[in-house]
Amino acid sequence: MSYPSINSVAGSASRNRDAILDALAPFLEQVVSSSKGGTSNKEEGPERVLEISSGSGEHVVAMSRRWPDVELWPSERNEEQLQPGGWVAVYGAFMQDDGTFASEGDAKFHERFTSLHPDFGLRKVPDVEAVARCYGFVMEQRIPMPAGNWMLVFRLRGTKGKQP
Ligand SMILES: C[S@@+](CC[C@H](N)C(=O)[O-])C[C@H]1O[C@@H](n2cnc3c(N)ncnc32)[C@H](O)[C@@H]1O
Repeated sequence: MSYPSINSVAGSASRNRDAILDALAPFLEQVVSSSKGGTSNKEEGPERVLEISSGSGEHVVAMSRRWPDVELWPSERNEEQLQPGGWVAVYGAFMQDDGTFASEGDAKFHERFTSLHPDFGLRKVPDVEAVARCYGFVMEQRIPMPAGNWMLVFRLRGTKGKQP
């Protein structure tokens, strides 16, 4: 399968970089303190943060500069098994809860995907949350981001991991 070009929204990785890092900060700082405090499981090695859809790599490079002690794994298409208690942060554009779009750009983005396949396109956050719940994830945070985007933080139910 081919994916839309990472250059399709020029400069967006740079524009949203700082807001993304700030939203992730409580989670990444928890990873740093787990590693330094020795609470990570020795048999499994240090805590790892996997970035899926790293694209240009700009965000993961900025994360590595801000949190040099975190083991970051950039990837473009990846399926990894998350440990119980592990978290997933999803950032991007979503359909608004009333079915409208936050901007003309989001509406066009949605149209572009639905023209490829009717099942594609932007989703409503509660619909994403419902699917995630079926797979054992609890949505812990729904963080409003610039340009009408959202950062959603899900935790896989289980015992490992701590609240940020
Ligand atoms: C907005 S870019 C990511 C920006 C990136 N964080 C950066 O720093 O440049 C979105 C990425 O998602 C990837 N992508 C699109 N559809 C995907 C899919 N279904 N599965 C995995 N990756 C996908 C694209 O190839 C692209 O690299």
